[in-house]
Amino acid sequence: MCGIVGYCGPKKATGILLDGLKRLEYRGYDSAGIVVQKDGGLDGVKRTGKINDLRAIVPEAMTGNCGIGHTRWATHGGVTDLNAHPHFDSANRIAVVHNGIIENYTQLKAHLNAEGVVFRSETDSEVLPHLIAMYYEGDLEKAVRSALRRVKGTYGIAVIHADEPMRIVGARNGSPLVVGVGENEMLIASDVTAMIAHTKQVVYMEDGEIVSITPDGFTMTDIEDKKVNKQVDEITWDLGSIEKEGFACFMEKEIFEQPETIAQTLSGRIDAEYATGKLGGLNMSSRELLGVKRVKIVAAGTSWHAGLIGAHLIESIARIPANAEFSSELRYRNCVVESDTLYFAVTQSGETADTLYAMRELKRKGARVLGICNVVGSTIARESDGGAYTHAGPEIAVASTKAFTSQIAVFYTFALLMARMRDMSISSGFRYVKALQSVPEKVRETLTRRDEIQRIAKKYCHARDFLFLGRGLMYPVALEGALKLKEISYIHAEGYSAGEIKHGPIALINEETPSIFLVPADELREKVLSNMKEIKARNGPIIAFCTEGDEEVASIADEVVTIPRIDELFYPFLATVPLQLFAYFCALELGRDVDQPRNLAKSVTVE
Ligand code: F6R
Repeated sequence: MCGIVGYCGPKKATGILLDGLKRLEYRGYDSAGIVVQKDGGLDGVKRTGKINDLRAIVPEAMTGNCGIGHTRWATHGGVTDLNAHPHFDSANRIAVVHNGIIENYTQLKAHLNAEGVVFRSETDSEVLPHLIAMYYEGDLEKAVRSALRRVKGTYGIAVIHADEPMRIVGARNGSPLVVGVGENEMLIASDVTAMIAHTKQVVYMEDGEIVSITPDGFTMTDIEDKKVNKQVDEITWDLGSIEKEGFACFMEKEIFEQPETIAQTLSGRIDAEYATGKLGGLNMSSRELLGVKRVKIVAAGTSWHAGLIGAHLIESIARIPANAEFSSELRYRNCVVESDTLYFAVTQSGETADTLYAMRELKRKGARVLGICNVVGSTIARESDGGAYTHAGPEIAVASTKAFTSQIAVFYTFALLMARMRDMSISSGFRYVKALQSVPEKVRETLTRRDEIQRIAKKYCHARDFLFLGRGLMYPVALEGALKLKEISYIHAEGYSAGEIKHGPIALINEETPSIFLVPADELREKVLSNMKEIKARNGPIIAFCTEGDEEVASIADEVVTIPRIDELFYPFLATVPLQLFAYFCALELGRDVDQPRNLAKSVTVE
């Protein structure tokens, strides 16, 4: 969703802001703008469209050493040039960029209107510069603090004033903001990717904090103006992680990174001597883990699919009842929290509003909530009681791929840990560990099916609808395959349990509706074969993903993609990867914007 970047220092701000916004493109946006301090005033441009469109209209003369920029994803007010950020006060002395939603903006706007303020946009954000101007008496930080006391809602903001050269004031409440500490220069951004080219030293802001930055450093205070001491963290990945490195797009790169990213997730998390999982970050003793009677997982989208796989594993091998629920549902229902239930919030970004608020609601009721997050230092990572980072590295494509396989890798280690404390024997543990450790190599082998998958995608990508069908552990994989296809190719696709099609969806089957079957050599293979035959009998085209050497599947299906043989519990890794490729090649063939599909945002920080 919306992105913020700000710079003050000896270099020209314009280029740094535009490059920073370019790096934030992956979050999803529909318009963008920048503003710099120049000749005692403010010089800004904003417009709908891409960053390159914005770059094209930035005048050469628009130079300055301090400025802020924004990518907007419309919530209040349409996608127009005027609604893009920055927003200014009436005198054009104050500029604000804002992520989040000002919930009481109608009241604030009415009040400001009554004071004679004329609004130029339809946004909620525009109340901020006018409010700050109302309180401004020569101290921007003070004015921001006073204005924010009147604001209800969520925000990450960056503000500059023409009368306070080389200063940016930032504030956070519910929308991430990070300060970058450079040499004689400082940055502020909603996401470290916007500043990694300049510094790896960062300070994560907490809700309720206000920062004032100048090229020499920063001061952090709370809303009551009490000084807050912050630690400076070091980013462990580098610029290469957020560049395409020869791939056509980020999604393709991230799909092909999975042998390494899964290995990275598993690294240090397997105790080969006792054949168990090692997850120190859970912050729980063995005694506490033994006391867990139930596991509940909350997440959204692809992360929810990972949660479904996690729940299945935990229940089937650790014998602990487990389920996964949409965070958007849990946050508004009066859920029962029990002290012996362990909760997980699963999220790539660590900022998804629904998951964050579901976690807060659970914690408020006394639950212990562990996070499975990819983004280090993200809000959910920091507010959870413990957990595990997925260590998949920055995921830039909007459609999640490598984060998903890393999330399930964490669940595979957690399920092992819990199972080995209960009734999994050490010899079964060894078999499990051996299979788990073979996953990265088998994923690498699966990726060699690339050309075959591309051929099939080309042949079928003009279909109007697809069904994705699987059972057991393949059911969440089917949901994930359907989600990938619809979000990046815009083809309608439904994921179903193959056992459910006879209860309704089979009515959709005809010669033009392909069914994608996930039918590896697991305990449900025979059942899925029967489901395939039901489709075949109704002339539905079948594309099957099965274990290599499975002639029976090949004799029924119209197209077959084989995946390497592995212990049956581990097929979710090997079945997901070809579905990601299938979606990718369909989108490519249809000329879609693979990395930034329409209407979608990488980090969904609003409801
Ligand atoms: C799909 C996708 C989304 C996210 C969902 C949750 O490819 O990326 O469905 O999985 O918005 O996001 P996180 O994992 O950041 O909480």
